[in-house]
Amino acid sequence: MNPVPASSPTAPQAAALAPMPTALSDAANLAQRIAKAELHIHIEGSLEPELIFALAQRNGVALAYPSVEALRAAYAFTDLQSFLDIYYAGASVLLHEADFFDMAWAYFLRAQADNVVHAELFFDPQTHTARGVPMGTVINGLKRACDQAQAQLGISSHLILCFLRHLSEDDALATLEAALPYRAHLVGVGLDSSEVGHPPSKFANVFARSRALGLRVVAHAGEEGPPDYIWQALDVLKAERIDHGVRCLEDAALVKRLAAERVPLTVCPLSNLKLCVVPDLTQHPMKRLLDAGLCATVNSDDPAYFGGYMNANFVQTVQALNLGREDVITLARNSIEASFVCAEHRVALLEKLEQSIQ
Ligand code: HPA
Ligand code: ZN
Repeated sequence: MNPVPASSPTAPQAAALAPMPTALSDAANLAQRIAKAELHIHIEGSLEPELIFALAQRNGVALAYPSVEALRAAYAFTDLQSFLDIYYAGASVLLHEADFFDMAWAYFLRAQADNVVHAELFFDPQTHTARGVPMGTVINGLKRACDQAQAQLGISSHLILCFLRHLSEDDALATLEAALPYRAHLVGVGLDSSEVGHPPSKFANVFARSRALGLRVVAHAGEEGPPDYIWQALDVLKAERIDHGVRCLEDAALVKRLAAERVPLTVCPLSNLKLCVVPDLTQHPMKRLLDAGLCATVNSDDPAYFGGYMNANFVQTVQALNLGREDVITLARNSIEASFVCAEHRVALLEKLEQSIQ
């Protein structure tokens, strides 16, 4: 049959303009229904523009954008910093405990739709305490959403307090002290924000103090920063997981170490695409990470800003890299193995995963 040229006067306009629907592979379908854990989600990065506007109105906060559409149109990032500027501005609408609850609850509903059975939520207290919001307001609101997610959705979760690396270590130490009354609500600490120029070694003391308190340790490294930052996260901070870590592939000795010690990488494909870490998802290193024997996982990072939650990340990566069913199962299993749950709960989550494969 001869195809109708798009310019033909008889060509139906809609058919000529509509993108060809791509059939999902068997592996992509499995990726959607498989039970999984999310280990790299900045909860402030789950604030959808609609909720930003609703909270701005509720709290009388002025926004720099006239509408949801104008705000969303500004989500064209060139690098990490161009995103962070708009991400911190969006978080300025969060003032009260109910705001933090509403934000996290909206995330858990999206997570449930994607068959996320366990989530470890990052939050950035300094973004809020610097505006006069008390630490307790932040943590209590998030914790209440976590408790409701367990009770009503069957999703377990942990909170990870992240230090902003563009601020001083003294500021991070003061933040840790302010969080001590809520120690029982935290599983660990992390390190995020502008990576280049702020190496992990800058935070050696606050991570040592965190470890002494029994907190688990993760750190963003090797997203935009060099492999040396990953070495520092491991050797200086004693990070148990590396957030992003995709630049490890530039250093063969580092890949060997990460594989030998089975250090998990919490990889965020759509984030890497939107922040121009990769030019195209077909160039994403996920397959190379798996082939190198690394414990890679799929995560959404800041889903409201990067175009998708867990299943969008899974499906688009599986399709772009032509991943197979075994890759999908490995990624989901890695996410549960890399989580900070207790041994008993890990067994229960792995059982959910097995049942979801059928
Ligand atoms: N990298 C560093 N800091 C962040 C990110 C990220 O992807 N998202 C929110 N804070
Ligand atoms: Zn991140």
